[in-house]
Order: sequence, then structure tokens, then C-alpha cells
Amino acid sequence: MIKHLYLHIPFCLRKCHYCDFYSVSYKNYQQRIAEYFKRIITEFKTYQNLLADKLESIYFGGGTPSLVDIKYYKLLFENCLEKYINEQTEISMEMNPATLKANYLDELAALGVNRISVGCQSFNQDELNFFQRVHSLTDTINTLEMIKNNGNFLLNIDLIISPPNHNFTRAKNNLNFINKFSADHVSLYLLTFYEETSLYQSWQRGEIKKLDDDFEMDLLEYYIAALARNDYQRYEISNFCKTSNYCKHNLNVWNYGDYLGLGASAHSKYKSERWHNIRNLDSYLNQNLKIKPNKINLSAADLVEEAILLGLRKLSGIDLRLIMNREIKKFLESKKNKLVMLEKNGFLVYNSEKVYFTAKGLNIFNSVIEQILD
Ligand SMILES: C[S@@+](CC[C@H](N)C(=O)[O-])C[C@H]1O[C@@H](n2cnc3c(N)ncnc32)[C@H](O)[C@@H]1O
Ligand code: SF4
Repeated sequence: MIKHLYLHIPFCLRKCHYCDFYSVSYKNYQQRIAEYFKRIITEFKTYQNLLADKLESIYFGGGTPSLVDIKYYKLLFENCLEKYINEQTEISMEMNPATLKANYLDELAALGVNRISVGCQSFNQDELNFFQRVHSLTDTINTLEMIKNNGNFLLNIDLIISPPNHNFTRAKNNLNFINKFSADHVSLYLLTFYEETSLYQSWQRGEIKKLDDDFEMDLLEYYIAALARNDYQRYEISNFCKTSNYCKHNLNVWNYGDYLGLGASAHSKYKSERWHNIRNLDSYLNQNLKIKPNKINLSAADLVEEAILLGLRKLSGIDLRLIMNREIKKFLESKKNKLVMLEKNGFLVYNSEKVYFTAKGLNIFNSVIEQILD
């Protein structure tokens, strides 16, 4: 049974030029939020039979979930979610700086939300300008202070650490703010130039330069070392936490567990099936919910490859003693010579119990994984 639920809330004040997540203008779609939540409730009820009695995680991602009036979340909890949560359920919401209204945090806490992920992106005002963020650095600081003062939430901070002019001084400033707010969890992303974004177009036209690859790696290593000194454990390529505050929602994805995704563009996985909703709010509202949209049946080989690809993103890698799918073990045994060679070159560790990447291997994750799966 599925124990992890994702809900996509696709409304944003303005599209950031680097962002590839599905979102629509809050201003233009504000009148349709009620309809959207009604649809999510119907979709939930359609797939309810796949869910376990209690969920381990619920994740409101976006878009900007914190823009939406609390009354819609109340409706969702009362009609669907309430019965599925207990003290252990991790309930996360993504939040953008400067979107918080009075009492919003208290009302979220009353519903059971216990983890907030703030898209800070940078603590350097010039970089916020580069990212075309709607908020200022002061807004970010105010939002983080409100969350910390409220005291009901674990705090994650998202940063994009390789905009064109990033350097060690700016990195140090970012790290100071992480410590100042003693974030429980930090996600550090390298800036990705997705083809459909206007950032990509600007780069193609030569208006924006990418940071040099080697320098990007130097910066990443600087962040990793500084976070380690402050007791942040790196537990996945891009994710760090203090005192074992791992993100249950993401861990489930890397452990290749099942999850149900609701809302426009949301992805689901159940056993050997994967499906995803249409990336268009109007079409989603009219979608036939009885049919799993864009469904694919994963072959035995797909299941093995995907489990390895995701599992090795974790620093702990894949525990060969725990894996349920024996095909994974068999596949890795068939690649023994390659794995031994990669181990000799310092990219991973492989023994009868475990396989996991070293920091050197993680730096060139895609190329090492390609060699394994080839
Ligand atoms: C669903 S997104 C957005 C969350 C929230 N709406 C916000 O902007 O603060 C989650 C995170 O993905 C990261 N992200 C989005 N686009 C990215 C890109 N092109 N390159 C690297 N990281 C990106 C950002 O750090 C962002 O906070
Ligand atoms: S980064 Fe966040 S705020 Fe910006 S467009 Fe994407 S989802 Fe919306």
C-alpha cells in the first residue's frame, strides 16, 4: 500500500526564469483555486483504495503552496487527509518568502503541517535579482524569523549555489545564514539550465555565462566541508540534515518506494506502474480521473535500473542485505568486474553488504552511474 502522498499546488506570483516546475499565474488563476482543490479531493477519493491506513509523508510542493488561502487546506484535511495522519506523519509544505499572511503558520500547525521548506535560493541580494525572485533578502529573513519563532516546524532551506557570479564570499554569506537560522535540513542545487526556460534562451543568446564546471565543483566542496563542520550530515547528493532530520518524502523516492501524486503534472508510482497527470491546469480539471494518465508499465529491467540510479544518490547507497528485489542483487553481481574497477579508482565502495558512492564518485555521479548501467 502507498504511504507517501504528493500534492502539486501550481500557483506562483511570477515565473522565475530558471524554473521548469509546472506553474501558472496566481493572479490569472486565483478564481479557479476552489475548483482545483475540489478536483484534488475527487482525485484523492479515486485513488484512496491504494493508500495505507496511515501515511508516512505528505508533501505540498509547487508552485507556491503558501499562496493559497488556508481554507482550502482545511477542506482537504477535513475531507481526505485527517484520517490518514498520526504523530509520525511528516507533513511538509514549500513556502516562498513574503507569502505569509497573519496566523497562517498557526493554522498550518493546527492542521498537522510540521515541516516547512523555504525556497531562499540565495542570501545575496544581487543573486536574488539574478534569479528574478519576487522577494528581497529582508523578506527572506522575516519569513525565516517567523517560522523559527513559531516553533512548530522543522525548517528546510533551498539554495541554488551556482548562479554566474557566485564565489566563496557569497557562499560564506549563505552558510552564515543557514547557521543563523539553524536550519534542520538544507538542499543545495547547482543551477540547471532547462531547455524550456527563459534562462536557457538568455544563455543561448550569450547574455548569461555559466559558471565554470571546475569552479562549480570547488564551490560545492566548500559548502559540503563547511556544512559538515556545523554538524550537517550529507545524506544524498544535494541534501543535508542535522540530527537525523532526513526528509521522509524524498527518502522514499530514493528508496524507490511507491507514492501517489495529486494535481496538475504530479507523478505517481505504484508497484511496476508509473503515471503522471497532464502539465496543464485546465486539462487536469477535465481529465478522466478513472484512467491513470500517461501510464507506463515498468519492465523488470526498468525496475532494477531505476532502483539503482535512485538508491546510489544516497550516501548510504544500497544495502544488499535489505533489498527486496533480488534482481537488483543479481544485476550488481553481473557487474562485479566494473564495480571492482570503479572501487579501485576511488569512485565507490562495493562489498557483500553494501554499494555506495564516495565523495569523488558523487562529483561525477552521472558518468559513474552510466558505466554501471551500461
Ligand atoms: C518546486 S521548486 C520551488 C519551491 C518554491 N516555489 C520556491 O521557489 O521557493 C523547489 C526548489 O527547486 C530548486 N530549483 C528550481 N529550479 C531550479 C533550477 N533550474 N536549477 C536548480 N535548482 C532549481 C529551487 O531551489 C527551488 O526552491
Ligand atoms: S522557482 Fe518557485 S516561485 Fe519560482 S516559478 Fe518555480 S515554483 Fe514558482
